Amino acid sequence: MTLNPINPRNLSLLPHDILEFRSMLLTSGDFQTGDFNMMTIGWGAFGTMWNKPLAMVVVRPTRYTFDFMEKFPDFTITAFSSDYRKALSLLGTKSGRDTKKLELSGLSPTAAKKVASPTYTQAELSIECRKTYFDDLKPAHFLDKSILNNYPDRDFHRIYFGEIIHVEGIDKYAG
Ligand SMILES: Cc1cc2nc3c(=O)[nH]c(=O)nc-3n(C[C@H](O)[C@H](O)[C@H](O)COP(=O)(O)O)c2cc1C
Repeated sequence: MTLNPINPRNLSLLPHDILEFRSMLLTSGDFQTGDFNMMTIGWGAFGTMWNKPLAMVVVRPTRYTFDFMEKFPDFTITAFSSDYRKALSLLGTKSGRDTKKLELSGLSPTAAKKVASPTYTQAELSIECRKTYFDDLKPAHFLDKSILNNYPDRDFHRIYFGEIIHVEGIDKYAG
């Protein structure tokens, strides 16, 4: 798919639609060495932090992708048309720790423009981020205690802020 560069400040998307309902892929690692992993994400945010375009993702420490988010300085977030629903469902239910899930998904990783983490030839939107901050959700800080029901195993998400440094997408994502 041919994607056009989009100024990160002009990125236009419906975050609830794309994250919660259609879901995206989070990928971190190094395309050149093949040392990377990816998983489906449904929670996160886009916005502004320290006057820079921000993508926030949340990763449970139990995910294999967590190891890559810790080891590498950048990540990509990619969106796909509904044709790839099955692939995203697979990448969000199998772990790269014990399956070759990327091969099974049929997605083809390719070099990103400004970060070492890969993007995908089938993506319709590719957001390249440099990690700038992390923190862990703390049980004592949940003001709405009912949210703790999301953590029966107490594997509280680690939050990562990424500065969006490059975006490519189809026209609908250019504001
Ligand atoms: C629609 C959907 C959304 C998801 N969102 C997240 C998320 O935001 N954060 C997270 O830690 N796991 C999320 N997951 C779970 C991971 O994608 C899943 O555990 C995956 O198998 C982890 O793969 P890995 O072990 O190779 O990293 C989601 C799964 C699905 C199906």
